[in-house]
This record gives sequence, C-alpha cells and structure tokens, in this order.
Amino acid sequence: MYDYLNYIGGKWTGEGLEKIIVKNPATGEKVGTVPIAGEKETEQAIEAAHQAFADWSKRTAEERGNILKRFFELMLEYEDELAKLMTEENGKPYKEAMGEVRYAASFVEWFAEEGKRIYGRIVPGKSENHRIRVIKQPVGVVGAITPWNFPAAMITRKLAPALAAGCTFIVKPPEQTPLTAMRLAELAEQAGIPEGVFNVVCGNPEAISKAFMKDSRVRKITFTGSTEVGRLLMKQGAEQIKKMSLELGGHAPVIICDDADLNKAVDMAIASKFRNSGQTCVCANRFYVQSGIYEAFVDRFSKKVAQLKLGNGLEEGVEVGPLIDQSGYEKVERQVKEAIEKGATCVVGGKGIADDEKETYFFEPTVLAGVTADMEVMHIETFGPVAPIQKYETDEEAIRLANDTPFGLAAYVFTENVSRGTRLTEALDYGIVGWNDGVPSTAQAPFGGTKQSGLGREGGIEGIEEYLEVKYISLSI
Ligand code: SIN
Repeated sequence: MYDYLNYIGGKWTGEGLEKIIVKNPATGEKVGTVPIAGEKETEQAIEAAHQAFADWSKRTAEERGNILKRFFELMLEYEDELAKLMTEENGKPYKEAMGEVRYAASFVEWFAEEGKRIYGRIVPGKSENHRIRVIKQPVGVVGAITPWNFPAAMITRKLAPALAAGCTFIVKPPEQTPLTAMRLAELAEQAGIPEGVFNVVCGNPEAISKAFMKDSRVRKITFTGSTEVGRLLMKQGAEQIKKMSLELGGHAPVIICDDADLNKAVDMAIASKFRNSGQTCVCANRFYVQSGIYEAFVDRFSKKVAQLKLGNGLEEGVEVGPLIDQSGYEKVERQVKEAIEKGATCVVGGKGIADDEKETYFFEPTVLAGVTADMEVMHIETFGPVAPIQKYETDEEAIRLANDTPFGLAAYVFTENVSRGTRLTEALDYGIVGWNDGVPSTAQAPFGGTKQSGLGREGGIEGIEEYLEVKYISLSI
C-alpha cells in the first residue's frame, strides 16, 4: 500500500485531508491513497514555487542539468519498482510500464543537456551606435495537469524542460494514477531538486486549476488530456493571457498502401493500436487499407491480434491490460456495437468483460473489417483496443479521408515507395506522421498536434522553448 501526502515546498503535507483511494483497474484492489487538495493547498504550492524561482532561475544550466541527471539515474535505478507501481495503478502490462519508465527518464536526460543550449543572439543594430541583443529567460512558475494514460512520461515531458529552462513547477496528477507522480517526487527530492522547485498537488481538478488560473504568478499552463478540457483551460487562461501548451485528443489514421511491406505494416499497426490497450492520444484509431493489399492485411493482422493475451499486466505474457474505467469501457462497447449494426464485420474480439462490483473493465482486442466513414469509430477517438478497417482505392481518397477530422495529432503511412511516401506524409494535416513507423514518440523529437489536437510541442529542441520568454534588449552606446 502506498499512502502519500502532497509534496509542497519540499514538505509532505495534507495529513487531515480527505483521501482519494487509488484502485488497480485489473483487480479492483486498493493500491494506495493520496489527499484531496483544493485551492488552499494549491496556493501554498504556488507560493513555494514562486519563492524557489528566485534561486533556481539564477543557477547555471550546467548545475540544473547535473541535478536532473541525478534524477534520471534514480529513475533508472528504481525502474522495476516504478514499473510495477504503474502497472498496479494504470493497468498497463509490466513490460510496457517498464518501457514507459525509460521513456519518461529519457526526457529528463535529454533536457538536462538541452538546457545548456538555450542560446540568444546578437543582431546587427539599426545604426552605428545601436546594438540588438536577444536573450531567453525562464517563463516563471508553471502549472501542469497530466493524464492517467502515461503516469510518468507525461509528467517528465513537461517537468524536465521546465526545470532545465529555470522554471519552477507544480503538477496536478490524475485522480486515477497519482501514486507514480508521488514516487517521482520522492526521487526528485533524493536527487537534490531544491524545495519548491517541483511540487505535487493531488486532488480536486476544478479547485486546483482555478487556483492556477487566478494567480498571476502562474505564468504558464501545460496540459495533456481531452480537447474538451483543453478548450476550457484555454478560456480560463485567457483572463490573464497565460502561456499555454495543450496536448489534446487525436484520431490517428493509418494508411496502408498496396506497396507496403505487409509484415512490417502488421507489426507496427499492432504496436501502435494496442499500446496501453489503445488508450494513447497517438494510437492508430482508424485504418485505411488499399484494395490490392486489403484482404492480405486483414487476414494477417487479425491472426496476430487474436493471439494477444488480455489480462492483469503483472501476469507473465499479458500484452493488453484493462481499460481505465467504466466510462472508457462503455464508449468502446458503444462504438463496436454501432459499427456492427451498421454493417461492419467483427473479425476478432468484440466483447467486453466488465465486473461492476470490482470496477474492472476489460475489452477484447478487436478487429472490425468492412467499416465505413459514417460509423462513430471512424470519427470519434476510441481510446480502446479496437481496430476498424476501411478499404480505399486512390491516394487522393486516402488523404481526404485521413484529413477529414478536427484532430491533427498523429497519422501513419505505410509504403515502400519514397516518392509516394513523401507526397502522402506532406499532405497529411498532422503534427506527427509515422512513415513505416507505428511508434514515433521519442524525447529527441517534437510531439504535438495541429487543429484541435493542441498547441505547442513537447520534446526535441522545440520542447524547451515552451518554457522560455524571448527578451530583446535594445542598446544605444
Ligand atoms: C499520449 O497519449 O498523450 C502520449 C503518447 C506518447 O507520448 O507516445
């Protein structure tokens, strides 16, 4: 059992507060508790982060980087424990959870180095005695709100660039998976991240975001979650014109051309679709397969999907875990039912295994063939282990179908033809395009979407810019 308090200003606080009980979505068993903080506790965290900013922002990038590197090393030292905890509170299979710990740690390592490359520039002045200096400075206190689908990586992808840039940070982790965040805070403390630089406040989402929004010392909001909540935060942040990074919903199309490498397309499609039981923003959501390869793809893909083992992620060999909760389950069930009613063929899976008493919700890895554009699964993010497949004829048709959505996070193209791949990837209105690659996420690259999938980028050299203000100094000599 993990019983945590909030981590504010380097102290573990919130003894008397009511508790959130965190349950294992695979068994319904209690995993731990965290306090339910509200506005008051968030104000304390803002004050602590504000106080800490004065010192942290003045340290050299090298000094901040060295502390972050120690944090990175500790994450790897405790990777097994972190991965097990994540499987228990999120449900993702242990192997995948281990992959997430390493992915999360890689952001810390990358930005520990990247902080040293926050360059300004000298621009020729407008007259002989004029000089132009452009410098970059940390934004200030950052308020972060993170999702349950990646309990560690979605924190470090924000925390590491913020700290490397010299900002201080408060995170509100999700109610479903706050324990990983608390364990990260312990490791951050052990790594020597000074008090107030990294704060964790668990609890009431409305109260916490209200406190972020009304305090002008919180200069930046960074959020990963639904487009609906992102829109609300943007409206609330408009009052003080807060800087915003929003990583929102997606509805990733996968285009599989006649000339694709079939084995590669099948393996990558599985890796993309069933990662975290289909509960990622960049998961393959809808498949467009060209007529010449359609039968072969459906056949090989379905055979492999049928072999995926569903279950408790701590058990040997399990590759697909439970859905996070009842509402996630009901959405998946509804989309599958509606598609079948409208004429889709369920080739594999199609059934849910729900236990309302234990609150555990599993759904079989599912393949739907003969799907058409009018089905909900083809235009609303599923967030579950369902692969709907539609046949197409021409590249123009595939591009039109793929771009016909308000979302623009990730898309995938499978073709061995370089000219065709170049044209297709450039025509897709998405922030991330995987070409013969189903899992493009990495610390070195900018992650983020177009249209209603969000604002800003995380990772890569772009990721740190989100935590910097540009200042132009006009000097007359
Ligand atoms: C997400 O689902 O929001 C993140 C997925 C990733 O980083 O690959």
